[in-house]
Amino acid sequence: MLEKLIILDFGSQTTQLIARRIRELNTYCEVYPYNKLPEDLTGVRGIILSGSPYSVYDSKAFRIPLDEIRGRLPLLGICYGAQSLVDQAGGKVESCETREYGRAHLEFKQADDALLKGLQPGTTVWMSHGDTITALPSGFDVIAGTEDVPYAAFRIEGEQTWGVQFHPEIYHSEEGTKLLGNFLDICGMKRDWTPASFIETTVQELRNKLGDDKVILALSGGVDSSVVAVLLNKAIGSNLTCIFVDHGLLRKGEFERVLQDYEHLGLNVIGVNAKEKFFSALKGVTDPEEKRKIIGRGFIEVFDEEAHKLEGIKWLGQGTIYPDVIESLSITGMVIKSHHNVGGLPERMNLRLVEPLRTLFKDEVRRVGLELGMMPHLIHRHPFPGPGLGIRILGEITEEKATILQNADDIYMSLMREWGLYDQVWQAGVILLPVRSVGVMGDERTYEYTVALRAVTSMDAMSADWAHLPYDFLAKVSNEIINKVRGVNRVVYDISSKPPSTIEWE
Ligand code: XMP
Repeated sequence: MLEKLIILDFGSQTTQLIARRIRELNTYCEVYPYNKLPEDLTGVRGIILSGSPYSVYDSKAFRIPLDEIRGRLPLLGICYGAQSLVDQAGGKVESCETREYGRAHLEFKQADDALLKGLQPGTTVWMSHGDTITALPSGFDVIAGTEDVPYAAFRIEGEQTWGVQFHPEIYHSEEGTKLLGNFLDICGMKRDWTPASFIETTVQELRNKLGDDKVILALSGGVDSSVVAVLLNKAIGSNLTCIFVDHGLLRKGEFERVLQDYEHLGLNVIGVNAKEKFFSALKGVTDPEEKRKIIGRGFIEVFDEEAHKLEGIKWLGQGTIYPDVIESLSITGMVIKSHHNVGGLPERMNLRLVEPLRTLFKDEVRRVGLELGMMPHLIHRHPFPGPGLGIRILGEITEEKATILQNADDIYMSLMREWGLYDQVWQAGVILLPVRSVGVMGDERTYEYTVALRAVTSMDAMSADWAHLPYDFLAKVSNEIINKVRGVNRVVYDISSKPPSTIEWE
């Protein structure tokens, strides 16, 4: 039985971070909306209540009867979670006169509390709230305070319930991970959830679930779908068929390279060259959303056609990962995932979905991939959009423009690797602009395209900064592109951050 911790999400922006920290402690955890605690708590060893954008006294605040949870399992309330415990038990939570944001130092009020075990007196914690607990209910014992907050942490007598008003999940809380680790010890968790144990359990589960059924999977060359393929291959071998479509808008040489990698990994892959179909469907189209739709639709058609050549397929594999799942369950609905390239595929094909990475974060997917023996270059590649260069050619897409862009992009990416910059940026690429300008080459006047170089640093693509690449490097890239790529006579560098810009131009 897989042991796990449950995090009830009251809408805080840091709920995912709590899950990240717990996972870093080699412990499996799941996030549920605050009012969706599963009835069956078999295997659950403890519960964390997250923070919230609301105050406990707001009329819109998310409320559940906490006395139904208290005492059943070890419980830790964080920020709003802690304040709710106090509020519901008859204590007082009030708006602070001075909102406390930022660093504070913990003073311990009780020796030997299990939650604070091993933490240094004065340790820095990160506060972020406009409310504070001003009176504890009876039976609640303060265990730590800060200069401005008398009840920074408390414990409920006779229960394994704690509350902290600061955020241990935020990196600035120096010993936050240690505190969360202490809570896992209180829950009696073994902390043995590793990539290797994930692979072992998942492969077994896949075998049980799929039996002798046949599965089809669309590969994109990206990390998630590749790791799904190798996992499924390990579980069901040749009952998995993978399809990799070349829509003509991949990077230069990418189709051949990735196909070779897949074959090397022992996957049963069908590579489909569908360039002409895509270029002819895109002819004359300039509207970006329309272009995205055409590419998405074309992809589904090719995939569907290939799938029909195979017999007895029952399942569709997909590289859905945990952030997608959390976002789609999000109670506040603040995050909307806008890039579902193959939406509609399962319905159209009447297949059941198998998504073995549903519970993993991106870096965990990478660790699992490496553990599975996949090549590091396949695991550490930059994200690349499904519609590929299609969203980096502004205006009408033609095969000629795709070739120009592929050549420029190839020079940029090769030099980036050569200069050791590839792993320092989140993602990079070249954009072909529908702008021609005048230049001179030898004695001749030219009138050719402009390309923009883009490189960003980011943690999750939700926000991004332009990468401060060395001038010497940019100079080299510009020279190489202008000298070697026919059709381009001007190179510019994009210095916009997201927000308000986006990573891609279209
Ligand atoms: P933006 O441009 O929204 O990009 O800042 C955020 C991340 O999403 C990728 N992206 C896409 N991925 N289909 C995809 O599969 C798309 O239509 C698409 N548009 C953007 C982008 O590369 C970045 O990683």
